[in-house]
Amino acid sequence: MSEAIEIVFERVSKSFARTGSAEPAFEAVSDLSFAVARGELAVILGKTGCGKSTTFNLLSGLLHPTSGRVRVKGHDPFGEFDWFRGKIGIIFQNDRLMPWRTAIDNVALGLELNKMARSERLDIASSWLKRLGLGGHEHDYPHALSGGMRQRVSIARAFAVRPDILLCDEPFSALDEITGDTLRAELLELLHETGATGVFITHSIDEALRVGSRILVFERPARIAYEARLHPEMSGEARAEIRAGILRVLAGNNAEG
Ligand SMILES: Nc1ncnc2c1ncn2[C@@H]1O[C@H](COP(=O)(O)OP(=O)(O)O)[C@@H](O)[C@H]1O
Ligand SMILES: [Mg+2]
Repeated sequence: MSEAIEIVFERVSKSFARTGSAEPAFEAVSDLSFAVARGELAVILGKTGCGKSTTFNLLSGLLHPTSGRVRVKGHDPFGEFDWFRGKIGIIFQNDRLMPWRTAIDNVALGLELNKMARSERLDIASSWLKRLGLGGHEHDYPHALSGGMRQRVSIARAFAVRPDILLCDEPFSALDEITGDTLRAELLELLHETGATGVFITHSIDEALRVGSRILVFERPARIAYEARLHPEMSGEARAEIRAGILRVLAGNNAEG
């Protein structure tokens, strides 16, 4: 039986023109191919500047590839941007909450775009805020919340639309380690519960090893240099070997930084 494929990159490249310069365009993603099956959580690991966010933007439909093909649930994220409304949850490094909206109105945003009635969307938003431990903070504005709490709001916002696909770009790297650890565990539990397909981007080897059942290590420009699969019952020795393999690839590849 073949697994259902939810995300496909087929020989994708992305170049950025250098404005006002005769130099050739800068290639951030180079001939990148991978596929993610339904329910799978793929971790993309790479150094700063290797093209992770560019890949993320290609996935979420904010950029179109210079060449190659991106398909998410069989659709083109850039060309069919509206089709994806409410089907994808996105969590960025910086929470990107709307500062003029309260916590509950931020969480309800995706439901509002999906044209759900106000009372229903506020009910759903409120239960997600409670689930993320923010009961009582529904009417707080983002500036009144700590970084960890704001990231909790953005997790609630991502899950409120019941997404089939969850995309995370370094969601915890701006938080202190303990807060990050707690939120990561909660996010993984929610992902597991909802069965969503996930792509989780990080520059941290430790985080990649904690999150992923599958780790794709990027070189610069973005392309897969190494791939590993982890199993819960894997021995410490086998894990150490994977870590060493990852380190070899990252040490041998000089991204900026
Ligand atoms: N819109 C853009 N225009 C020009 N260069 C860009 C643009 N976006 C990213 N880049 C360049 O592409 C490379 C990869 O960036 P990015 O995808 O943000 O890396 P990462 O997320 O891995 O740190 C960097 O050198 C960056 O400067
Ligand atoms: Mg980035």
